Amino acid sequence: MLVVSNRGPLSFTFDQEGALTPSPGGGGLVSSIGPLLAGTDAIWVSATMGAADRAAVAQGRMVDDNFTLLPVVIDDDTYRAAYDVVANTTLWYCHHHLFDLPRRPRFDRHWQQAWEAYRRYNQSVADAVSARAPADSTVLVQDYHFSLLGLMLAAARPDLRTVHFCHIPFADPNMLRVLPDRAAGELLAGLAGFTACGFHTSRWETGFRACYADASLAELAGTDAAPPSFVSSLSSDHEGLLSEAASPACARSVEQLRTETGGRRMVLRVDRVEPSKNIVRGMLAFEELLEMYPEWRDKVVHVALVYPSRQGLADYLALAAEVTHTAERINHAWGTATWIPIVLHVEDDRPRSLAALTISDVLLVNPVRDGLNLVAKEGALLNQGDGVLVLSHEAGAWEELSESALGVNPFDVSGTADALHRALSMDRAERRRRAAHLRSLVLARTASDWLEDQLAAAQSLSR
Ligand code: F6P
Repeated sequence: MLVVSNRGPLSFTFDQEGALTPSPGGGGLVSSIGPLLAGTDAIWVSATMGAADRAAVAQGRMVDDNFTLLPVVIDDDTYRAAYDVVANTTLWYCHHHLFDLPRRPRFDRHWQQAWEAYRRYNQSVADAVSARAPADSTVLVQDYHFSLLGLMLAAARPDLRTVHFCHIPFADPNMLRVLPDRAAGELLAGLAGFTACGFHTSRWETGFRACYADASLAELAGTDAAPPSFVSSLSSDHEGLLSEAASPACARSVEQLRTETGGRRMVLRVDRVEPSKNIVRGMLAFEELLEMYPEWRDKVVHVALVYPSRQGLADYLALAAEVTHTAERINHAWGTATWIPIVLHVEDDRPRSLAALTISDVLLVNPVRDGLNLVAKEGALLNQGDGVLVLSHEAGAWEELSESALGVNPFDVSGTADALHRALSMDRAERRRRAAHLRSLVLARTASDWLEDQLAAAQSLSR
């Protein structure tokens, strides 16, 4: 078996003296898949993400005791255009419905060159897989970085069984039609080349199938036959997470958080600084809570653990500044000499994130659109105080957890403030009942179930 993902389990940076420094790959995908592949003979194919990774490959240092790695060396210009411009600014925005249509996107000649880079990037990975995959093996391709791989692999290695799993939403037809005709057509044709395509929820699968049912998109793709598809939601590595949260580092972070909040009730969020996560509206909802429900003033703290992401993109840098500015403004307006309403941390600190999930009273997960949202599941698993989950209807996890979470429309700031009030006011018995049910829903599925579903799709579904 081969697994393909843009970000691999190991990456490198240069330190100040120019020496290579290894670090584990970040993000939910790597932390969920890693434990499943560790110690197996699966081959993990991923891209070099910059000069340090390429140097590590050249020096033979891109090796890991736990995994068999196949790094694919990509030059900087190709990688930046494929990752920043196409994957993160075009496809991410398209599938999350984040385009600001009166102004963007603008598909000009520079963008066309970026699309060609995306094609080259997919082709390099397809070539590496084709050269290395044993006959008749299964290739599990993760995410929107590799939409074109299905057709490329079907042409080069028809013996392979290939699955594409999409960790993000899939655009509705009207949004996919925003892409230039050629790109929309290539994308659907590329995906149609896979043996099967998987999604976290039936909603994204429905959007995917609707694109092939759309006459004009089908014409662009050259086919109205969607590939076989399936739904399977991902879970974290439960045992690994629980043991990590029991570590001394997390215990120290619990104490620090209690000091920072002064032992007050805690409304928590843990996210990358990412437009789809809706961090600013979450802060505005917290402010409206203080305004409309004065009994919570000085009694509750919003702990926002939001860490950097995709810093090569101007939108992300602007969002980081807006998040900081909004927290400062609210603290200035509402804070007192002894109470800071919003405690904001912008450095990624995993022990602190896990510690906060164990002790929060309310976990706010309010994305405008999200493939799944693993934090919602992780919070339900780790929380030790019968915390309440306030969850966006637009998160893929809503389909699984709606019975026990409090649902919110992520665009409705007042509605979110009301939900926070309801969560903070909920009596102990109801919180306990909801938290126990949430936990059982999360425990009902493991990361291995998700892997098995992909393997089953590869075996049982024929082209
Ligand atoms: O949720 C989709 C996803 O691509 C994950 O697979 C990944 O962990 C996360 O977004 C972060 O993305 P990136 O690897 O671009 O930082």
